[in-house]
Amino acid sequence: MAIFGKDEAKNDARAAARPQEEKLPRHVAIIMDGNGRWAQRRGMPRSFGHKAGVEALREVIRHSDELGIQALTIYAFSCENWKRSAEEVGALMGLLLEYFARELQELHRKNVRIRILGDIDGMPERFEKQKKALHDAVLCTEANTGLCLNIALNYGGQQEIVRAARNLAIRAAGGEIAPQQIDTAAFESELYTAGLPDVDLLIRTSGEMRLSNFLLYQLAYAEFYTTDTLWPDFDREAYDKALLAYAGRNRRFGGV
Ligand code: FPP
Repeated sequence: MAIFGKDEAKNDARAAARPQEEKLPRHVAIIMDGNGRWAQRRGMPRSFGHKAGVEALREVIRHSDELGIQALTIYAFSCENWKRSAEEVGALMGLLLEYFARELQELHRKNVRIRILGDIDGMPERFEKQKKALHDAVLCTEANTGLCLNIALNYGGQQEIVRAARNLAIRAAGGEIAPQQIDTAAFESELYTAGLPDVDLLIRTSGEMRLSNFLLYQLAYAEFYTTDTLWPDFDREAYDKALLAYAGRNRRFGGV
């Protein structure tokens, strides 16, 4: 007689294909690429791929939470993504609203803290509802102590660095800080990710090998993992595979 049921055996095999807790990254960042191609291959509009991408994202957030990862940063919409067609931008903004309406309470119950990296107030006026939903989600979860879910939206790495430099210049001009006191700690305190560890693992799906203006400061010593899998197909197993690859890396941080 089998000691384990089929499901238990499957769960056991999955757990074995996952790194030990101490080898997990503290901070994972993901460029969720390939939604458009995924849809096109099915003869569907790009928005269909983004919708499927949200489903993949839900699973990755759940898995990150279950594994006890400290921070997950996802690239939802860059400053440059406004160049896309009005139809695609509208679809993405619609998905954003839908996402918070559907998920916020569950995320809050799971003690997830939501932070938005990027210029929410700089979004076009026609997205007032989105701005409000984003501010509400941040406020609602700000005291939570579990997974920190950072959603990069209207975000650019260069813009974030310039913003930090400008804020420090304003503080220096106001006499709050001496220019000589500006060091990495002072600089990091002005980034959207203030208080979080640097990224340990950057995942990019769909086989592209670009940073696309994502977390340019925080990726200094991140391990880069790419896969040809398109984002909507990136499931728990694909995530475990990335985490295992990370666990096998020899991180030297400039040492030997
Ligand atoms: C890149 O694929 C994907 C994006 C620009 C958008 C990613 C957004 C989501 C998955 C959903 C929105 C997030 C939330 C929080 C609801 P692409 O469109 O560039 O694909 P392609 O390279 O195949 O064209």
